[in-house]
Amino acid sequence: MRDLVVAMTGASGAIYAIRLLEVLLAAGRTVHLTISPAAQLVLDKELDVAIDLDRFNAAQLLPADSGLSDDSALRGLRSSARVAAFDASSVLSEKSPGRIIYHHFRDFTAGIASGSFLTDGMVVCPCSMGTLASIAGGHSENLIHRAADVHLKERRPLIVVPRETPLGQIQLQNMLRLAEAGAIVLPAMPGFYHNPVTIHDLIDFVVGRICDHLRIEHTLFTRWGE
Ligand SMILES: Cc1cc2nc3c(=O)[nH]c(=O)nc-3n(C[C@H](O)[C@H](O)[C@H](O)COP(=O)(O)O)c2cc1C
Repeated sequence: MRDLVVAMTGASGAIYAIRLLEVLLAAGRTVHLTISPAAQLVLDKELDVAIDLDRFNAAQLLPADSGLSDDSALRGLRSSARVAAFDASSVLSEKSPGRIIYHHFRDFTAGIASGSFLTDGMVVCPCSMGTLASIAGGHSENLIHRAADVHLKERRPLIVVPRETPLGQIQLQNMLRLAEAGAIVLPAMPGFYHNPVTIHDLIDFVVGRICDHLRIEHTLFTRWGE
């Protein structure tokens, strides 16, 4: 069992990445995590989570308290997200079987920038249209693009989790290009056939489908036919 790579970029849905990290750590996996500045902004806007990309530690992904602003239009989302996914006991590395190894998005000396560093795969979650375009174009302007490029050239699993609507022609073409290059394009598009009740059920559907493609056993949702 080798390490996994998770990259967070600036699309809406930071909570998907938090939940994914939680599940991967609980599964005992070592995760190399890198985060774009836009993802940092989205974490702040969507979840009130402030992280420092230069002095990151896993605890920064956890809120200092679970107090919610009563006037927040997203109160329900923030509430369910925090209660369900921001669970310190499972995300903090010293208390869960897995661990996070953080890499700054500009650090091209990180192991994951090289094909010789073996992994079991990479997930870009959520994946912005900007990062999608950069990977599809092979630009490798930051560690996220480079690590994704490496996974494609080494024929290792690369799962991108785009979120945008509607999708324009250029975005669709970029997705096709990535799929043709071997990536799994797994949009943050929860199904409803598993009878979700909470927002957390919707999040878990997407995270569960990511885990399916990483070959990680889970019970995050009830499968059709079960
Ligand atoms: C709150 C917020 C939500 C955003 N949501 C999306 C989104 O859902 N999809 C997307 O492609 N870009 C979204 N963006 C724009 C990206 O963050 C922006 O294009 C950025 O340059 C992406 O950079 P990155 O790919 O390096 O993370 C959002 C930005 C903000 C601030």
